[in-house]
Amino acid sequence: MPESITVTDNRTGESFEMPIEDGGVDSNPWRANLPGLWFTDPGFTTTASCVSSITDIKGDEGILRYRGYPIEQLAEKSTYLEVAYLLVHGELPDAGQYEQWQHDVTHHTYTHENFRRRFVDGFHFNAHPMGMLISSLAAMSTFYPEAKDVEDPANRMLQMTRLIAKVPTLAAASYRFSVGMPYVFPENDLSFPHNFLSMMFKVAEPKYECDPAITRALDILFILHADHEQNCSTTTARTVGSAHADPYSAMAAAAAALYGPRHGGANEAVLNMLDEIGTYDQVDDFIAGVKRGDRRLMGFGHRVYKNYDPRASIIKEAADEVFKVTGTNPRLDIALKLEEAALNDEYFKSRRLYPNVDFYSGLIYQSLGFPVEMFTVLFTIPRVAGWLSHWNEMLEQDSRITRPRQLYVGADVRDYVTMDNR
Ligand code: CMC
Repeated sequence: MPESITVTDNRTGESFEMPIEDGGVDSNPWRANLPGLWFTDPGFTTTASCVSSITDIKGDEGILRYRGYPIEQLAEKSTYLEVAYLLVHGELPDAGQYEQWQHDVTHHTYTHENFRRRFVDGFHFNAHPMGMLISSLAAMSTFYPEAKDVEDPANRMLQMTRLIAKVPTLAAASYRFSVGMPYVFPENDLSFPHNFLSMMFKVAEPKYECDPAITRALDILFILHADHEQNCSTTTARTVGSAHADPYSAMAAAAAALYGPRHGGANEAVLNMLDEIGTYDQVDDFIAGVKRGDRRLMGFGHRVYKNYDPRASIIKEAADEVFKVTGTNPRLDIALKLEEAALNDEYFKSRRLYPNVDFYSGLIYQSLGFPVEMFTVLFTIPRVAGWLSHWNEMLEQDSRITRPRQLYVGADVRDYVTMDNR
């Protein structure tokens, strides 16, 4: 059977063939045969915006793999830092490579003092940490002007290492500022998640101690959030990067996309929703309101997964481990009832709406002591590794600048009318 599709233009009766490659249809013959006739695909529901070797999602089967490795195996056996290496470099590191990577990331965790004193300290006292983080990422480009040389692979690698290393420092600084606490400097002998928790929560103790179950749970959450192929923020990173903007600016743009409640902001929205529902017996009323179209059930549904989000199952297990240490989250009962009610309801079943990664992550974050405003920040920390891998891949592919077409449906040409004649 030929691996192609035949298109017939019924206006002329002419046909041409479009080859199927890597599971997609090559658009070049279309452009050559039907110039000026664009596909209409708002939201890119049928458009592959790039070719990528980083993350593989098979939505109908609930499969997620980074560089071919199943997310379940990575969550069980790996660390976030190793996963970040895998995403960026394409292969798991050997012992020597991992040691070097750990050293490199650890030694780039500090920020210039002027960054903290002149930039972070300039925010309003109750600034949202996510707004601060987005701005901080962009501001970093002013400290590393050499990052503009995006065509040099060695320079790209240096900036990627810096970003992966510094983003927890920026994230913790935005939290400490927003609660009026002094900044805590990074400690290079701590693991990646432990160091972040120390920068977040250390007060006067010489060393921030933490239950290993807690650091492991946070590391698992970081692994699960590290990449998710062409979602809104990753596509933003590639789009901004395709104009050859520096990586700090591209990461700021991606983080801004993540901030939206339909994307990474959903974990914050889930907690707010659970608080609004308030009690177990209000769940049915709330579900009825969702079905009437009054609002969405946050933490449910996904453009790609039309089956259970595999990350949601792993998070549910991680939550159990955390609750053994912290005690259960009082909102868990409401969340479980909400999930059960939705999974058994025709409205959700027919639309194939299942819990996504954000449904339970907020409950863990809250039990770990993070305020709701930090939830999307926690998503950003690991996702920077994914965004950078895509940004780097796009540059390695020497991609053209992103420039979609539009269908113009506005007014036809008309003459300017002076103000007194309108
Ligand atoms: N609650 C109620 N109904 C929903 C929901 C929901 N959460 N999600 C989708 N629907 C309905 C929607 O109203 C529509 O119904 P109808 O066909 O009758 O008009 C149908 O399901 C299809 O929805 P859609 O908006 O066309 O789906 P989409 O693929 O454009 O949107 C989504 C995907 C994730 C934006 C959406 O499901 C949503 O808004 N979910 C809530 C927010 C959320 O949890 N986001 C986190 C996503 S996972 C983490 C990440 O990647 O950032």
